[in-house]
Amino acid sequence: MTTGATIEILDLRHFAAPVLRPVLEAESAIWLDRLHWDYGSSSRLLLQYLDSRMLPGYAAVEQGQITGYTFCVYEETKAVIGDVFAVPGGDPDASDLSAAVPVPARALEETLLRHLLETLLNSPQVDRIESQLLLHPSGTLAGVFREAGFRLFHRLFMVQPLEGKWSRPHLDLPSGLELRTWRDEDLNPAARLIAESYSNHPDSLINDQYRSIHGSLRFLHNIVRYAGCGVFSPLTSHVVVERTSRELAALVLGSRVSPQSGHITQICVRPEFRRQGLARMLLNLAASQFMLQGASEVSLTVTAANTEAIELYRAEGYDCNHTFDAAVWRRPDTPEPLS
Ligand SMILES: CC(C)(COP(=O)(O)OP(=O)(O)OC[C@H]1O[C@@H](n2cnc3c(N)ncnc32)[C@H](O)[C@@H]1OP(=O)(O)O)[C@@H](O)C(=O)NCCC(=O)NCCS
Repeated sequence: MTTGATIEILDLRHFAAPVLRPVLEAESAIWLDRLHWDYGSSSRLLLQYLDSRMLPGYAAVEQGQITGYTFCVYEETKAVIGDVFAVPGGDPDASDLSAAVPVPARALEETLLRHLLETLLNSPQVDRIESQLLLHPSGTLAGVFREAGFRLFHRLFMVQPLEGKWSRPHLDLPSGLELRTWRDEDLNPAARLIAESYSNHPDSLINDQYRSIHGSLRFLHNIVRYAGCGVFSPLTSHVVVERTSRELAALVLGSRVSPQSGHITQICVRPEFRRQGLARMLLNLAASQFMLQGASEVSLTVTAANTEAIELYRAEGYDCNHTFDAAVWRRPDTPEPLS
């Protein structure tokens, strides 16, 4: 397949890791500049998959050099679009990476995404496609997603500066609850807590893993075991345990995404324990632990429709630094599973 005279769009499985490395280096520089996020561990994981020649996706090749790529992963009958990226200016050595993505890179990203969507929409075994392209400012690829029948959800990337703000977190637990740091044995109870906390929640429209205990466990494995979102930090992550049932009432999970930045990958409170200050306390605990580890800011992402959580984050000093889109497609006539 070709676009114009010089750019070819080819199956990603034709390429081994070394040829994609310069593109990933250019992308890493943008992640660091825009989100203060070290993309290195994600890049390494991606390069390993690439070497196995099993990653579904496309590469843009210009004069023998890869200038962009896109890929997805399958989870049973769902496809998750992992990334779409083209080097600004089409040149991996371009110097001004902090500038907004110029039009040629944007056009190439749209072309790559169209190719991937065409493949997925024509794969009868795929009944759902999800995408959250965190690096891309809201609206960037919206036209392509909408054309293909996707529903878009606006999301915020919020940041709380830590410097000079640390104070010992105030711990005032309601009776019957106890607090401790994360343990590996918390995986199953945490999955039950997440499934319950996100029942009928806007985030379960975006990520169907939240709709079941099995899916929530998959989400947790990705965060805790496979560095799916930075490097998991067990000391930052805390659970609130109900003494009688030993079930979890609340949790916060944190990961390091760069030496300067911590990231809250999950915070939730069981409905019957809400509005008692648990989430505020857990956010403070995580922030103080990140600060002790040398971070100067904490970030998190939140869906614009989740107004309660945004209220909480703003009250805690988080500001919106960046917005991006989540996009979801369902094959027509596929029933939504019960939440
Ligand atoms: C968002 C959530 C974590 C808040 O937990 P919580 O323990 O009830 O929050 P807190 O009691 O610590 O609330 C602290 C502040 O947040 C804001 N807030 C929390 N819930 C709110 C609500 N339902 N409406 C309005 N403001 C709310 C208020 O400013 C509140 O302060 P106040 O009680 O003094 O007015 C909880 O509602 C939840 O688990 N939701 C589902 C999962 C989720 O959305 N997680 C966040 C994903 S980004």
